[in-house]
Amino acid sequence: MSRILNSIVAVCPDMGIGNKGQLPWHSKRLNNELRYFQRMTMTPSIEGRQNVVIMGRSTWFSIPAQNRPLKNRINIVLSRQLKEPPEGAHHLAPDFSSALRLLDTADLAEQVDQVWIIGGSSVFKEVMEAQDQRRLFVTQVLQQFDCDTFLPPINPSIFRLLPGFPGVPEGIQEENGILYKYEVYESIQT
Ligand SMILES: NC(=O)c1ccc[n+]([C@@H]2O[C@H](COP(=O)([O-])OP(=O)(O)OC[C@H]3O[C@@H](n4cnc5c(N)ncnc54)[C@H](OP(=O)(O)O)[C@@H]3O)[C@@H](O)[C@H]2O)c1
Repeated sequence: MSRILNSIVAVCPDMGIGNKGQLPWHSKRLNNELRYFQRMTMTPSIEGRQNVVIMGRSTWFSIPAQNRPLKNRINIVLSRQLKEPPEGAHHLAPDFSSALRLLDTADLAEQVDQVWIIGGSSVFKEVMEAQDQRRLFVTQVLQQFDCDTFLPPINPSIFRLLPGFPGVPEGIQEENGILYKYEVYESIQT
């Protein structure tokens, strides 16, 4: 079944998304930004259904243990090495296409609403290169922090920046002295 693949990510000016297994701005805590992530990924458009979050193994383990699995969402972890889902995860997939195929199995087809890809680096890269219709929900953090994990460049011939999007706050946000803004990109259908 064809679905929109939604990715959601927060990036530094150099496209950094992580540092030492955590968010680069970890010590500053952007709580409103975190609440935005929760709201966007958790809210289904069809009552009674749940959204799916798909993530790489390191992103799963970067979530504090007490917050795993991400609540009210079906959590799928990608790993080529693990043989069973890490404790608390709902499903394990050996590659991205298998994760999407899982959604069409009898078990999940009637339960699943939106698909959200939540990282990390190689998972975002794979989605950004996919053929499906895609949206990228990007929080541009307007301050540089040390980073060791990066988002690939957003190719303007593949993704266009939308002027706005329902439920996405407009303008510059500020939290703990850090400025950031929300952006939404959509893949250009050819
Ligand atoms: N700023 C943000 O919005 C954001 C979002 C997410 C994560 N992060 C940060 O990014 C870092 C984690 O991301 P990361 O890029 O290092 O790692 P990651 O993508 O979360 O995890 C990498 C692992 O996931 C598995 N994997 C990835 N792609 C796969 C695929 N297509 N098929 C099967 N398995 C796949 C592999 O596991 P195996 O080795 O087990 O095979 C791989 O070693 C942390 O610092 C985290 O805080 C930031």
